[in-house]
Amino acid sequence: MNFWRNIPRPIIGLSPMDGVTDASFRYITAKHGRPDVMLTEFVNIQSAIYAPELLLKDFTYSEIERPVAAQIYGKAPELFYRVAHIVGELGFDGLDINMGCPARKVAAAGCGAALIREPALARAIIRATRQGLQDWYNGQTLQQVGIRPSAVAAFTAANRRQTATGAMPDRRLLPISIKTRIGYDQIVVKDWISVLLEERPAAITLHGRTLQQGYKGKADWDAIALAAEIAKNSGTLLLGNGDLLDMQDVYRRVRESLIDGVLIGQAAEGNPWLFAGKEQLKQAFRGAAALTPQPAVTRAQRFDVMIEHSRHYESVAQNHCFHGMRKNLLWYCRHLYGAEELHWHMKRVNSADEVERILLSSVPAGALLTLGIP
Ligand SMILES: Cc1cc2nc3c(=O)[nH]c(=O)nc-3n(C[C@H](O)[C@H](O)[C@H](O)COP(=O)(O)O)c2cc1C
Repeated sequence: MNFWRNIPRPIIGLSPMDGVTDASFRYITAKHGRPDVMLTEFVNIQSAIYAPELLLKDFTYSEIERPVAAQIYGKAPELFYRVAHIVGELGFDGLDINMGCPARKVAAAGCGAALIREPALARAIIRATRQGLQDWYNGQTLQQVGIRPSAVAAFTAANRRQTATGAMPDRRLLPISIKTRIGYDQIVVKDWISVLLEERPAAITLHGRTLQQGYKGKADWDAIALAAEIAKNSGTLLLGNGDLLDMQDVYRRVRESLIDGVLIGQAAEGNPWLFAGKEQLKQAFRGAAALTPQPAVTRAQRFDVMIEHSRHYESVAQNHCFHGMRKNLLWYCRHLYGAEELHWHMKRVNSADEVERILLSSVPAGALLTLGIP
């Protein structure tokens, strides 16, 4: 039931990024990199209940992403209780609570990283969520917790689409994890992590920045190491997060901080292959292999995945226009040189067919050599 415990350490997962790690991004990353765990983009608990179509856009996933945890945020414990039922019903492997988002619209409303200053409320949220997962596991239905029949029907239909056999997933008791930061305006790791540990979540992911830092400055890995020390032998896994670029980086940080694993975010943009190096890294930890740099991705591989990603993006029912795919295409191209023309096109493409046509014909052969590749 607690999938976190079954992953060989160090755990190397994909960090959630709202507006980035959507269903297609996760599918492509799972297929070409296989992270140990995936978290969805975060979903507001109010919209989860009152606007199910918004929830389903972010909570669509493919079987190859497993284990996959749904991430939610908010501040009302009773809504967490109800949304826990939805997360269970949708067949996820885990539920992650966001207590780390610094965005104004989230934190100013008392959600995300603002909860670092509200430890009693944070604990009440974890407890309500756990109770919700338990009651759903014991057979309580979505209708019984007041979810509208039309929303229940939408969730059931979504479920049928995403399970391989069409059968409803079995009820399982899902583990809770927390993703948070090292503080609000100053580092409070000792107190904050101790508070969270009292609720015994399966895992805590700690981004090494305060809310006030946003995404500026550097992640403080000493603070993450301190958290790992506090969490040691608690039964809760401690994952570090922030500024990791490749498996060499992960290796160094895991060794120095004695964490149980990491989540990687921005380095995976346009780079689903990043996670393919994780098996070698795990072998290196067991002393069974040396850690060598990953082989460079060829131009042909890159183009194939750009087309595949574009086609998948179009296949997701909730993606009504292609604009959201363009940023991915630009990320895929960023390590190519002589690619000004390609960038120009990728900023304007409107379909997967167009991407394919541009990549296969418009670009003069040999004009887009991956850096370092002859
Ligand atoms: C565009 C963007 C969106 C993000 N959305 C989320 C989110 O929905 N949930 C969450 O827990 N963290 C979110 N984060 C934070 C990342 O998961 C991660 O903690 C942060 O980017 C640091 O890790 P990195 O240096 O590996 O990217 C987001 C970050 C970015 C840049």
